[in-house]
Amino acid sequence: MRKKVSIVGAGNTGATCAHWLAAKELADIVLVDVVEGIPQGKALDLMEAMPIEQRDVHITGSNDYAATANSDIVVITAGIPRKPGMSRDDLLQTNYRIMSDVVGKVAAASPDAILIVSSNPLDVMVQTALKQSKFNRERVIGMAGVLDSARFRTFIAEELKVSVENVSAFVLGGHGDTMVPMPRYSTAYGVPITELLDKATIDRLVQRTRDGGAEIVKYLKAGSAYYAPGAATTEMVEAILKDKKKVLPCSAYLEGEYGIHGLCVGVLCKLGARGLEEIIELKLTDEEQAGIRKSADSVKELCAVIGV
Ligand code: NAI
Ligand code: 2OP
Repeated sequence: MRKKVSIVGAGNTGATCAHWLAAKELADIVLVDVVEGIPQGKALDLMEAMPIEQRDVHITGSNDYAATANSDIVVITAGIPRKPGMSRDDLLQTNYRIMSDVVGKVAAASPDAILIVSSNPLDVMVQTALKQSKFNRERVIGMAGVLDSARFRTFIAEELKVSVENVSAFVLGGHGDTMVPMPRYSTAYGVPITELLDKATIDRLVQRTRDGGAEIVKYLKAGSAYYAPGAATTEMVEAILKDKKKVLPCSAYLEGEYGIHGLCVGVLCKLGARGLEEIIELKLTDEEQAGIRKSADSVKELCAVIGV
């Protein structure tokens, strides 16, 4: 039997994620949204592409969570995106209400599912989903680090004029202005970028990565990025469904790692069939540790506003 992935929120990110998942023939897909017709129409349209793409997956759309019953994974993208001039944090109250509406229904329909949260402000929404679903931390993780790292990798590859396949890099911390790109652990063809680029250039790429979401919002004006976010979520889904034990930066609930207790923040996570199978804790310099601490503090402040 094929695996089942439900996606709540059939907007830009949700539908694009469905597209990448279907193109990779990873699972049957259910799209759910509050707006009538949108999940049904997008699902049917995508399904009708499958004979062309030669992929056997079933894609349905619904406004009813019964359709999501017994999903292996539920991706939550429901929520409003930001507009130019807004920060992700400006979405807090509205998306908290939406997340609270969604999580209970998702958990009731699929009590054994793994949740991948994408709605912003990301780490706070993961924390909300974790608390309200009452799932353990292995089954509630957030997508942001894969996206931020992909942006950093893109900029490094462009700067060095090498294939993206040669570049490895990751970003830790919360998904906000204080995120922490990690140049010391970033390499091109195995060589640390600190040996290939001068400090001013690295600082420029780090800042562009931090501003990566806003750069897209500024162009689009009416919403935020969705192709790379959809692909990033798909990489996490694939790692879990194929039990790959793949190490990816994801938002996870920390219980003392990096000295942080009871908070969802981006760290390196080993993803496999059980979801979050291990948090990889790195040896950090004082500066890197301070960066993660600062980023975690800003997540904590937002969590306090809504009491999660
Ligand atoms: P969108 O507006 O295109 O889609 C959001 C969808 O959620 C809409 O179709 C809307 O009808 C639906 N929705 C709203 N309330 C709902 C509810 N109660 N139940 C079910 N569906 C509901 O927005 P987009 O671009 O897909 O972004 C969605 C969220 O994901 C935003 O908060 C955005 O900031 C965030 N995001 C996060 C990323 C990350 O890196 N973590 C990357 C991209 C987007
Ligand atoms: C981004 O970074 C919207 O948070 C999302 O593009």
